[in-house]
Amino acid sequence: MEAIQVSHPKICKPHPDENSLVFGKAFTDHMFLMDYAPAEGWHVPRIVPYGPLALEPSCMVFHYAQEVFEGLKAYRAPDGSIRLFRPMDNARRLRDSCRRLSIPEIPEADFLAAVQALVHADWEWVPHTFGTSLYLRPFIIATDCSLGVHASKTYLFVIIACPVGAYYPGGLSPVSIYVESEDVRAVRGGTGFAKCGGNYAASIRAGERAAQRGYSQVLWLDGVHRKYIEEVGAMNIMFLLDGKVVTPKLTGTVLPGITRRTCLDLLTDWGIPVEERLLPAQELFEAASQGRLQEAWGTGTAAVISPIGLLEWQDYKVTLCGGQVGPLTQKLYDSLAGILWGTLPDPHGWILPVAD
Ligand code: PLP
Ligand code: COI
Repeated sequence: MEAIQVSHPKICKPHPDENSLVFGKAFTDHMFLMDYAPAEGWHVPRIVPYGPLALEPSCMVFHYAQEVFEGLKAYRAPDGSIRLFRPMDNARRLRDSCRRLSIPEIPEADFLAAVQALVHADWEWVPHTFGTSLYLRPFIIATDCSLGVHASKTYLFVIIACPVGAYYPGGLSPVSIYVESEDVRAVRGGTGFAKCGGNYAASIRAGERAAQRGYSQVLWLDGVHRKYIEEVGAMNIMFLLDGKVVTPKLTGTVLPGITRRTCLDLLTDWGIPVEERLLPAQELFEAASQGRLQEAWGTGTAAVISPIGLLEWQDYKVTLCGGQVGPLTQKLYDSLAGILWGTLPDPHGWILPVAD
C-alpha cells in the first residue's frame, strides 16, 4: 500500500461525555478512505475529516448490497497507551467476507495499517474509563454506477470510529433472549459466516417481534431444520451444560466470532471441557427444565460477555441463575476485560499496541 496521506491532522469537535456514551452515535474527527479500481488496485489510502460521502443514487451498493464490514475496538490501558485486540483476526475475517461477496480483498497488513493510522489520528477520542473504548467500523462498498447484477468494478474502503461506553455501566446485567421460530438468518451456502450488511437487514423483523414480547435479543435456529441453536443477533452464544461449555460449531451459517474463539481458548486454559457441536434446541430446553443448564452467555466485540438471564422457546421459559450473573460468566468477563483494558497480563499475545 502507498503511504497513507493525512490531510487534516487536527480538528476539534467537542467530545461526548465519557460517562454517557451511546453505542454508535458520536463519530470522531477523522475517517480512513481508500479506493479500488481494476487498473490501480487499492489506491490512495487517506485520512480525511469525518463527513458525508458523495455517491450517485445508481451506486451498486444501494441496490444489491455488495458490502462487507468489521467491528473491533481500541482500548485505553491505565498507563494511557492504546491497544487493539486480535486485529489480524478481523483482517482475516474481512478477507473471507470479501471472498464470499466477490469484493477485492484488502491485504491484511494494509487493513492493520489503516486501523492504526485512524486510531493514531483520533488518539484523543479513545476514552479513558475502564469498560469504554473506541469502536472501529471498517467497511467496503461497491461503487459502480450501474443497475446490472454483477460484481462492481470499483469499491470504497472506509473506516469510521466512535467512542462507546461500557455495555453495562452498572456492572454486568443479564439479558433476555427469545428463540426465533419463523424467520431464519442463514443457510449453508449463503452468507451466514460473512459479515455483510444484508445478514443484518434480514434480521431486523425478528428483533422487532422479540422486542414487542419484551425480549432484548433474538436467538437464531438453523435455517434448514429449525432445530439447532446458531447465534444471537450480534453475538455468539455459549452454555454451561452439565459442567461442560457447549457452543454451536461453525458450519458456515454462524459468524466466526473473535470473542467466541477467545473464550474457548480461555476456558481450555482453565481446564474446562468445551464442546463445539450441533446443539438441538430441544436438548437445551429439556436440560434447562431438568436444572442441568447452569449458565448461558453471549460473546461479541460490542458486548464483550453478555450474561443471559431468561430464554424462551415455544412452551419453554427458562430463568437462569435466578436472573443473576453466573460465576463462570463473571470469570470470563473479568478475565477478558482485564486483558482488553490492560489490567491483566496477555499471555496469548492477543494485544497489539498502537504507536503514539
Ligand atoms: N455474531 C454476529 C451476528 C455478530 O454480529 C457478532 C459481532 O460482531 C458476533 C457474532 C460476535 O463476533 P465478534 O466476537 O468477532 O465481535
Ligand atoms: C460487534 O460486536 O462488533 C458488532 O458488529 C455488532 C454490531 C452488529 C452492532
